[in-house]
Amino acid sequence: MIISAPTDYRVAAQAKLPPFLFHYIDGGAYAEHTLKRNTADLSNIELRQRVLKDMSELSLETSLFGEKMSMPVALAPVGLTGMYARRGEVQAARAAAKKGIPFTLSTVSVCPIEEVAPAIDRPIWFQLYVLKDRGFMCNVLERAQAAGVKNLVFTADMPIPGTRYRDVHSGMSGPNAAMCRILQSMTHPQWAWDVGLRGKPHDLGNISIYRGKPIKLEDYIGWLSRNFDPSISWKDLEWVRDFWKGPMIIKGILDPEDAKDAVRFGADGIVVSNHGGRQLDGVLSAARALPAIADAVKNDITILTDSGIRTGLDVVRMIALGADSVLLGRAFVYALAAAGEAGVSNLLDLIDKEIRVVMTLTGARSIAEINSDLLVRNQD
Ligand code: FNR
Ligand code: LAC
Repeated sequence: MIISAPTDYRVAAQAKLPPFLFHYIDGGAYAEHTLKRNTADLSNIELRQRVLKDMSELSLETSLFGEKMSMPVALAPVGLTGMYARRGEVQAARAAAKKGIPFTLSTVSVCPIEEVAPAIDRPIWFQLYVLKDRGFMCNVLERAQAAGVKNLVFTADMPIPGTRYRDVHSGMSGPNAAMCRILQSMTHPQWAWDVGLRGKPHDLGNISIYRGKPIKLEDYIGWLSRNFDPSISWKDLEWVRDFWKGPMIIKGILDPEDAKDAVRFGADGIVVSNHGGRQLDGVLSAARALPAIADAVKNDITILTDSGIRTGLDVVRMIALGADSVLLGRAFVYALAAAGEAGVSNLLDLIDKEIRVVMTLTGARSIAEINSDLLVRNQD
């Protein structure tokens, strides 16, 4: 298939991946209303076209927490990325580093910190989930620090995994999962050979190193439910804050009151996010939640956002709505599944080109010039 738009990668990923993996990536919680609104609300944001302003000199460069970036985009933490392409976290991190943007490694990645961090020449970001076994938290933070991680993303919106009915239908979880997966692998031989066989070991690398034995993926969703800790509170973050020397970013903020709490707590950044519609269905889309949060805390904290961003145009829209920068989730994962590191590199180039065109036609010469003046007024 010929790829010309960033969104083409979704179809290409579906052709390549066994359905249980494609639907794990693609799906959301309950009836997936918030998942759909994330993209629909964002595409409804209208921008003001401005002309004849000599837009020959443009800069997409920006920085976050003292780190330079070639554009206001970072790759979001995505669990099991090493199942979508062979050693997928390493491939995605390489593409991000080549483009000059950050890559965030999930706690529940296939490749451990020790495999991904040395593969690139800029520090990776690390995302922390708190497990009931608190010994893991100390262990993994020490290992992240030893691997040169500076920016820590603490994900707050997953005290329990969201209910995702698609995962049961597709064979990702549920009673027939093992049989479904074998059959699906047989009908996707390219994936079975490249990732299924040559991409091993398939386990939760960060946790396996701590436990000294592989955490197998047969019952991944069940494992998340048993091991994630619903008791997490600001108190746990205080411990992390004392331990962690670098910037701390709290991901999964959707309400201005929680954003203010993050400022009071002393966080360096927040990610306005509903986890890509994967947690609580029926909550606001990120595009609709962002403006009120920006009104409440814009001058006090760095604001990142994700959920529904698929194109360079979406990146500009989110910055106009109040973000300093964005994270890409599914957008990069589809490209990785379809074409590995080269796919992610191409996606990032397509997004870069789109951002340039949007800036040229809205009269913004730098990322700092993208603000609410670009928005058509009277949008609710
Ligand atoms: C995620 N996300 C996520 N977030 C996180 O903090 N840790 C994680 O391990 C994961 N795992 C994960 C797996 C998959 C398959 C997806 C699609 C997402 C959420 C992710 O970081 C981000 O918030 C969303 O992907 C943003 O929504 P979009 O851009 O994918 O719509
Ligand atoms: C997910 C987790 C792992 O969204 O964050 O599936």
